[in-house]
Amino acid sequence: MMQNTNQENTKQISRWHTFQTQDEINQAALNRILAAAQQAISERGSFSIVLAGGSTPKSVYALLKDADADWSKWHIFHNDDRCLPVNDVERNSLMARTTWLDHVAIPAHQIHDIPAELGNVEGAKAYANTLAGVATFDLVLLGLGEDGHTASLFPGQAVDNSADAVPVFNAPKPPANRITVSQQRLSNAREVIFLVTGAGKQDAVNDWRNGVSIPATLIRPKNGVDVYCYGVKI
Ligand code: 6PG
Repeated sequence: MMQNTNQENTKQISRWHTFQTQDEINQAALNRILAAAQQAISERGSFSIVLAGGSTPKSVYALLKDADADWSKWHIFHNDDRCLPVNDVERNSLMARTTWLDHVAIPAHQIHDIPAELGNVEGAKAYANTLAGVATFDLVLLGLGEDGHTASLFPGQAVDNSADAVPVFNAPKPPANRITVSQQRLSNAREVIFLVTGAGKQDAVNDWRNGVSIPATLIRPKNGVDVYCYGVKI
């Protein structure tokens, strides 16, 4: 069993960073990811990163495609995926592969897609097994939905920490069937960065900063979270 470093009832620590242009936020995220990788590799010999889905991180992944890194030491995971065929353009794993992963020398067995094509129950079980042998993540990237969701943890849905990866049945953002890594497992990370861009996220950001409990506030790594913002007022 994994040791969970998250303190369930501890308040989330958040640090907010605002950027003036899309390029600035992309560059800041790129630099932070590469620095975290370098540090993890020099201290522990490998780097584990959990990728965010959705559209926001795509331009950062495009920069990573051309970055100089010790790819042989990178281990890739996903925070959620949609239960669709492997080659469906809505799959988070496909977006990450076509934008970045297919173009760099990360060994295939170190890229751990969520097998969401198996359906949410079977796929979640399989991914929970994958995660069972994985230590504290070095870096978790997350997005924020307009309703405050993150990964596939949606408002008003039961908080399920029974396994590291869990099925989602009624996601309000299509498709309804998804698989998400649990908030407890996502919190078991040395570093967590949220990428939040666009005015559509303003209400969720206001709620978050005003102490309203939205799913993003459930991510509580002991070192706190960094929220990178562009196009929202903080
Ligand atoms: C997904 C996501 C989800 C996403 C947010 C933000 O698969 O839909 O992982 O949590 O990060 O909905 O999505 P955008 O970046 O597209 O706004």
